[in-house]
Amino acid sequence: MANVTVIGVQWGDEGKGKIVDWLASRADIVVRFQGGHNAGHTLVVGDQVYKLSLLPSGIVRGTPSVIGNGVVLDPWALKAEVEKIAGQGVAVTPDVLRIAETCPLILSLHRDLDGLREDASGAGKIGTTRRGIGPAYEDKVGRRAIRVCDLAHLNQLEPQLDRLCAHHDALRAGFSEQPVDREALLAELREIAPFVLPYAKPVWRDLDVALRAGKKILFEGAQGVLLDVDHGTYPFVTSSNTVAGTTGSGSGIGPNAAGFVLGIVKAYTTRVGSGPFPTELDDATGQQLGERGHEFGTVTGRKRRCGWFDAVLVRQAAAISGVTGIALTKLDVLDGFDTIRICTGYTLDGKDYDYLPPHPADQARVEPVYEDFKGWSGTTAGARSWADLPARAIKYVRRIEELIRCPVALVSTSPQRDDTILVRDPFSA
Ligand code: GDP
Ligand code: IMO
Ligand code: MG
Repeated sequence: MANVTVIGVQWGDEGKGKIVDWLASRADIVVRFQGGHNAGHTLVVGDQVYKLSLLPSGIVRGTPSVIGNGVVLDPWALKAEVEKIAGQGVAVTPDVLRIAETCPLILSLHRDLDGLREDASGAGKIGTTRRGIGPAYEDKVGRRAIRVCDLAHLNQLEPQLDRLCAHHDALRAGFSEQPVDREALLAELREIAPFVLPYAKPVWRDLDVALRAGKKILFEGAQGVLLDVDHGTYPFVTSSNTVAGTTGSGSGIGPNAAGFVLGIVKAYTTRVGSGPFPTELDDATGQQLGERGHEFGTVTGRKRRCGWFDAVLVRQAAAISGVTGIALTKLDVLDGFDTIRICTGYTLDGKDYDYLPPHPADQARVEPVYEDFKGWSGTTAGARSWADLPARAIKYVRRIEELIRCPVALVSTSPQRDDTILVRDPFSA
């Protein structure tokens, strides 16, 4: 099976977009299978910078792209993104993009609820992207979602609107908000339907045909394993499963189609939003990592929290997701540091831990145990082969492989598409 699944193995923003774009030249189809426009994937090709949230990152190369049923789709955000990227010369036509007819829609009432809850939570807020992701997934499993296929049946929407509005009106009343304006919602849906429907297809069937024909499928994950609703730092997580196992349920193919699971791993750690972060640095070093790594959120512009590489978390996340090999990104950001630290374990109340305990209070209190590395002189920035890397940088990469028990398949050394070292081709591994 020549497929590849790309997933984030930390708290998102590992550089998935860059790697998916790079790999897309070898793929026949790129598929998003979870998340929504909470994702922000940045691709840099020459002097062009592409910022994608919903569109699969293969779209920039014109690789046929699919938004699977596991994605929650904000049709207005999609339209804005399609228009924006058209302005950069990338045409997103129904020939190149297909959207599952069964995708649940994110509506304005979901965005409202996301914001209302966050505002009401004070210090306990999740720090969501306020895009309505969580409320939309809740309505999906609550069986009251409006889906892409409903856009072709808006005259039959009343029973669904009854269910949806009964639920949301009760929640809104709790926030002293007006009930949902059903007529306005229906009018919005009527207006957007002609834009979305040409892309709507039974994508499970296209993927089945592609698999039978031996085509190469590249699955593009969003967020990261530590934001997974089951396996992440709950409740400070997103509302979908971000692990590689979601490719099947999120796109309508079998569980064995994931192929090579390529975990994207940043050479240090970042997190946006609230929640535990054992190796976080609230000092000048953290500041330096953020500045050198340009760690500002693509979606919300928020400053990302920064810290040293946490091998405990990556080993755990890689095991949970069945990672075959990793792409190590942003190694260049560590150029010039005198000392680089790796967290190899935790202690809590005098006890050693080689994994992150599940309770948030424990997660917030674990103390990292560090191994120190002497930084390298010289630079990794822009390196395209092992031979270009300083010996101590290679030592750092090898130690990471050892600690996380996963081999490196790719190393990324700048935001540019081609500043990538290929160690082992995931498509022919
Ligand atoms: P994603 O959400 O996983 O796709 O990651 P983001 O695009 O949100 O964040 C990664 C950021 O790092 C983007 O601005 C990329 O352009 C940039 N980036 C990716 N790989 C590298 C790298 O190897 N070195 C440097 N310096 N920047 C990188
Ligand atoms: P990419 O694909 C980093 C975080 C939010 C918040 C939590 C829940 O670019 O790696 P949500 O809006 O999903 O309900 O927010 O998850 N989050 C991300 N952090 N990268 C992302 O995506 C993220 N998507 C969501 O900051 O802490
Ligand atoms: Mg991102």
